[in-house]
Amino acid sequence: MPAPTPAPDPDRLTGFVLCRGGLEDVVARELRELEIEVVDKRKRAIEIVTNLAGFYRANMGLRSALNVLRPIRSFNARNYDLLYYQSRKTNWHKLFPVDARLRIDIKGHSPKITHTRYAIHRVKDGITDTFRKLCDGVRPSIEKRNPDVHVVVYLEKHRATLALDMSGTPLFKRGYRIEHGEAPMKEDLAAGLLALSGWDCRSPLLDPMCGSGTLLFEAWMMAAGIAPNLHRRFGFEALLDYDPQVHAAERRRLEARQAQPEGMRLLGIEIDGATFRTLQKIRAQHFPEAPIQLEHGDFRNLDPGGEFGAAVCNPPYGLRSGETFEITPLYQALGAFLRQHLAGRCAGIYTANHEAAPHFGGDPKASVPLLNGSLEGRLYRVALDGAG
Ligand SMILES: C[S@@+](CC[C@H](N)C(=O)[O-])C[C@H]1O[C@@H](n2cnc3c(N)ncnc32)[C@H](O)[C@@H]1O
Repeated sequence: MPAPTPAPDPDRLTGFVLCRGGLEDVVARELRELEIEVVDKRKRAIEIVTNLAGFYRANMGLRSALNVLRPIRSFNARNYDLLYYQSRKTNWHKLFPVDARLRIDIKGHSPKITHTRYAIHRVKDGITDTFRKLCDGVRPSIEKRNPDVHVVVYLEKHRATLALDMSGTPLFKRGYRIEHGEAPMKEDLAAGLLALSGWDCRSPLLDPMCGSGTLLFEAWMMAAGIAPNLHRRFGFEALLDYDPQVHAAERRRLEARQAQPEGMRLLGIEIDGATFRTLQKIRAQHFPEAPIQLEHGDFRNLDPGGEFGAAVCNPPYGLRSGETFEITPLYQALGAFLRQHLAGRCAGIYTANHEAAPHFGGDPKASVPLLNGSLEGRLYRVALDGAG
């Protein structure tokens, strides 16, 4: 008789933290700051070993990550039938209740599993057949928009891992964003850019084209030690081993790290009226205590006043036809403005227009690639040598 599989040590649970390419080192650093053991860094994923408390802490405290996964079963994914059989062999009923509303996603790539929809279908059949057999024909329902439990099939070359998404909704959805016409920068990207920009998280910061303010709001939470996801819902709350007391204790532990940073000032300038109103609304609703100053206008006509330690900025890219004409003078003016008001400091400028970047002083060879959706954005770190 085969020996029963030993129950996993609850203090040595494996996890995978997913992130966008280029932010692996930043996320590994954030994990260590959260006192979570990093075992390995891979492309777009960090392997960790932790316990339930660590999973909860990672979800509430990580800034630049996308999802935290808890692997359940790993196997060689040679074909779609194996996805079904391995899924069918898993004790899902010990992980979540039969009335859970379920969403299944595929992440990563495998040469053998290329038909995403069919792969999801096979895993769904495996899960629902497991429940049907054990629960008199009753099975979880599928709910794509607002699921309770999120199962991920994580593909890495020939291996597939069935995992529970402990985050549920991706971690960049902090809950403060108000949707409007212009696509704002995602919060994980904003936090990652700030971490890579050279800003020290203590000195005053300027964003001369701040849009709906993602860089400013993330910067404030970093400076004040505020965990970005303290009060939202997570996938782990629907699991059978959810422990609300441990969750509350981890929330208190993160709250105890908050500190009012002295001498902090965050200044954002935005030219567009509707975007500026969104910006004001977010600040009033979610960050009323933050020393964030907002100016409506063209940065070229404004004097930011005072001393700044650094600037960060995500200017328009001007990639649509006809816009190149306007982008060159804008990027030139941005470079001159920063050299005038932040001489001797540094700026982190994120754009996907690499031909125009030299106009603000960006060197494409020294830039850091960071994907923004399908756009190949790069962070340009610019040393501001003097008045220009
Ligand atoms: C790519 S968006 C910034 C998005 C921002 N990072 C966010 O998270 O919402 C660029 C912004 O620069 C603003 N802008 C363009 N030219 C400007 C100027 N001369 N002065 C101030 N803002 C400007 C645009 O209105 C737009 O909101």
